Amino acid sequence: MEETCLLLILLLSGGLSTLPPHSREYHFVNQLMNWTEAQSYCRANFTDLVTIYNIDISQLLLSVSPRISTWAWIGLYNDRYSWKWSMEGKLFYVGSTHEFLIWANDQPDCLNANEYCVALQGQTQMNDRPCGDSYPFLCYNAKNTSYILVKESRSWSEAQSYCRTYHTDLTSIRSKEEKSNITLTLNGSGVQYVWIGLYRDPWAPWSDNTTSTFTNWAYSQPNNYNSVEYCGMFNLMTGEWADVFCGLRLYFFCFTGEVQNANTVRSCHHVKH
Ligand SMILES: *[C@@H]1O[C@H](CO)[C@@H](O)[C@H](O)[C@H]1NC(C)=O
Ligand SMILES: *[C@@H]1O[C@H](CO)[C@@H](O)[C@H](O)[C@H]1NC(C)=O
Ligand SMILES: *[C@@H]1O[C@H](CO)[C@@H](O)[C@H](O)[C@H]1NC(C)=O
Ligand SMILES: *[C@@H]1O[C@H](CO)[C@@H](O)[C@H](O)[C@H]1NC(C)=O
Ligand SMILES: *[C@@H]1O[C@H](CO)[C@@H](O)[C@H](O)[C@H]1NC(C)=O
Ligand SMILES: *[C@@H]1O[C@H](CO)[C@@H](O)[C@H](O)[C@H]1NC(C)=O
Repeated sequence: MEETCLLLILLLSGGLSTLPPHSREYHFVNQLMNWTEAQSYCRANFTDLVTIYNIDISQLLLSVSPRISTWAWIGLYNDRYSWKWSMEGKLFYVGSTHEFLIWANDQPDCLNANEYCVALQGQTQMNDRPCGDSYPFLCYNAKNTSYILVKESRSWSEAQSYCRTYHTDLTSIRSKEEKSNITLTLNGSGVQYVWIGLYRDPWAPWSDNTTSTFTNWAYSQPNNYNSVEYCGMFNLMTGEWADVFCGLRLYFFCFTGEVQNANTVRSCHHVKH
């Protein structure tokens, strides 16, 4: 069996950020797989691909012996189809076959790993755009069930604040009827891009469905080079991360242990030593 199992028990010290689960065992698997295969392997044989919560854990992972100058998969990925509405905050999937939420050609592309907010383009199609860009925006007012096009250009979060102050929130698009009313509201306005309430958190959640506030990107990473880099790899020498094509075949880290949210705890499967 060409598998190296590493046992690392983590001692927790209280920290300000989200606390990682009490203890996790880390398993370095020296078989070459793509990210999805590695995830299946980890879920079948352990709990999941690892989540890295802080620098101390990175250092522990560096104790892989012997050290190899290469990269390995961790549970980090950038799901460009999982979004949230400003009004709800729940994750939901908007793939290319959605009934009325239609992506413009080749979108979402998370250009330069910097596009985490959505604007309507040409009044009907969606495009992921840099949240800091300034566009007109669409508020929703729940009191009189109306859509308000605000023609001042603001960043997505400034637009959100405005809508929350003067109306209810940036608009959601929850049905075909709502979509056509919005199209009607925008008709003739001449706006190219208009912010709506759709956004997502960069590189969250991780494979095990937990989130981490810690990041350790290598210089100029992530960059989503050629818009094909949606998985995160870990440098075994430096502990730094980079985004890369998910189809690459790399070694990887699994863990066994509890996941963070009590209601999503996955039990350990067979632990091999
Ligand atoms: C679990 O690990 C064994 C080797 O230890 C491997 O043969 C098997 O394919 C793994 N399971 C999955 C689903 O990857
Ligand atoms: C709904 O209320 C908002 C806020 O008071 C107002 O700006 C908007 O014009 C109203 N729309 C309609 C259709 O009454
Ligand atoms: C949207 O338009 C339909 C008619 O097409 C109307 O019945 C509905 O009340 C409008 N308002 C909203 C909030 O969808
Ligand atoms: C937009 O408004 C024009 C008239 O100003 C109308 O002819 C056209 O059908 C409208 N388009 C949509 C999609 O409602
Ligand atoms: C992940 O967490 C969210 C809540 O943050 C929950 O709605 C979802 O069901 C979880 N998914 C899995 C696979 O545990
Ligand atoms: C990973 O491998 C599986 C089968 O081995 C394949 O179906 C999948 O497309 C690969 N993923 C990528 C991103 O290439």
